[in-house]
Amino acid sequence: MIPFRSHLRFLLLPLLALGITSLGAGAAAVHRAPVVCSQSGMVVTACPIASSVGREILGGGGNAIDAAVAVGFTLAVTFPAAGNIGGGGFMLIRLESGEAVFIDFREKAPIAASRDMYLDENGDVIPDRSLSGHQAVGVPGSVAGLYRAFQLHGSMPWPDLIAPAISLAKDGFGVSANLSQSLKRLVPYMARYPALKKFARSDERPLEEGDVLKQPHLARTLQTIADKGANGFYRGEVADLIVEEMERGGGLITKEDLSQYDAVVREPVMGLYRGYTILSAPPPSAGGTVLLEILNILEGFPLGEFGYLSEDAVHTVVEAEKRAYSDRAQYLGDPDFINNPLSTLLSKNYAGYLRSSIKWEAVSADRLDRGGITAYEGDETTHYSIMDSRGNAVSTTTTLNSGYGSKVVVGGGGFLLNNEMDDFSIKPGIPNLYGLTGGEANAVAPGKRMLSSMTPTVVLDGGDVFLVLGTPGGSTIITTVAQIIINFIDFGMPASKAVSTPRFHNQWVPDRIDFEKDAFSGDLIQRLERRGHRCRERPTMIGDAQVILVQDSLMCGVSDPRGGGKAEGVRAVHVLK
Ligand code: DON
Repeated sequence: MIPFRSHLRFLLLPLLALGITSLGAGAAAVHRAPVVCSQSGMVVTACPIASSVGREILGGGGNAIDAAVAVGFTLAVTFPAAGNIGGGGFMLIRLESGEAVFIDFREKAPIAASRDMYLDENGDVIPDRSLSGHQAVGVPGSVAGLYRAFQLHGSMPWPDLIAPAISLAKDGFGVSANLSQSLKRLVPYMARYPALKKFARSDERPLEEGDVLKQPHLARTLQTIADKGANGFYRGEVADLIVEEMERGGGLITKEDLSQYDAVVREPVMGLYRGYTILSAPPPSAGGTVLLEILNILEGFPLGEFGYLSEDAVHTVVEAEKRAYSDRAQYLGDPDFINNPLSTLLSKNYAGYLRSSIKWEAVSADRLDRGGITAYEGDETTHYSIMDSRGNAVSTTTTLNSGYGSKVVVGGGGFLLNNEMDDFSIKPGIPNLYGLTGGEANAVAPGKRMLSSMTPTVVLDGGDVFLVLGTPGGSTIITTVAQIIINFIDFGMPASKAVSTPRFHNQWVPDRIDFEKDAFSGDLIQRLERRGHRCRERPTMIGDAQVILVQDSLMCGVSDPRGGGKAEGVRAVHVLK
């Protein structure tokens, strides 16, 4: 190993080139994200405990895939709002060989699901049924996904990757201020779902910072998975517990649903943006397709010349977003069920056609505003970005959908189940939790995967990894990833600023630009309104991105200052506190 002093000097030269050391003085006053750099491995997650687990795995000789599996299981213990074994997600792996692998472990509708299952006899949506309780639950995919990643590219023994999560569940861990705050949101649900009391003190008051959270049932479930692999979840005693839980609450998932579930390896979508290669999530996520559509449209505009948060830049970004989100609603769904017209949606020609309709004035959405995005809580989905010293990169976004999913804890199993069924278009034109509408392509059908916005992404410069990134945020996921990419490529921002700087979002319906507090000046709002845009300051922040930037052989991790996460590097240097 290089002695620390010379190692540090070796690191600092390229850092100067990166402009990162100047961040301490130059970064925006409100948000400042620490940048952590290493040559030996980087883990960026929304939970400091999970980041340390990942760093330990890398430091002990594991590769990025090993670390991602260990982080995934750890988050199920330490970040229960979104980390999960009862939910699903997507993992994009870019191997040192140059091969890219996308693992789809999205939940599926149960076999007994049907198109109108969330409508009453008049065809109206039954409030809350797709959002909480047993009927909101899709067949979980996370354990199958993590197991598939391990089988394909893991290098350490499977039980070793679950061991840290088992210890944290069995012996407990200290509740952070963030977790304590988040768990308080469960209090109103505890009477209806008493098993949630595992997240409370014995007198049923919420856990406070510093309390120790032990989860013995979850530890036992994880041990079974450690002993038996994915079969430890989808068959046998854990599957029995899930089915019993479903029967208790009128849910639809059967043993057949569980034994039939499998993670699917798919081709990532790929495109070029100003010479950089973008690898991202294919259907059943809309993420990569919409991201590339936005970037393809924007490529025809000199964003860098316009300037960050200039009237012209915001206008063109928003107009590109609207067009891409409108296509999301109309065309995209589970590729095992529908034909996604990707060759058109991803083509530069099609982007040119869409671009030609962008004028000085805003185009208004040709649909009514049917509600809008609910207030976003930052810990509802979670992303982690990991790289090892060999150049393997993993970008994973995982979720229970909204925070703590359906609120149903599997009795005796100790884990929460998702409410991902709400991501289907439960009735054409009716917005889901994130204000997203859809139609036939995303209608409920037995065994179908619901359309997602999760956008785990890797950006390459030449053949080398340049960025590993992703974020939670429901419908805002895609625009957040797009903006971070633009911040680096078009606006040349240094790492901390690219992640921290204020964000804005438009998703076609509702026809409105949401911007983060203080992102838009009064003058900018007026100018945009003159062009026909509606602007709204969003009451909550947008996203919780976890990003790795690679430059000059250094992996620099940035965890979004909007959340409580952390970048942890193997033998790392902290560039900005
Ligand atoms: O898959 C999706 O698009 C949603 N279920 C993600 C939910 C989400 O990001 C919630 N986050 N804040």
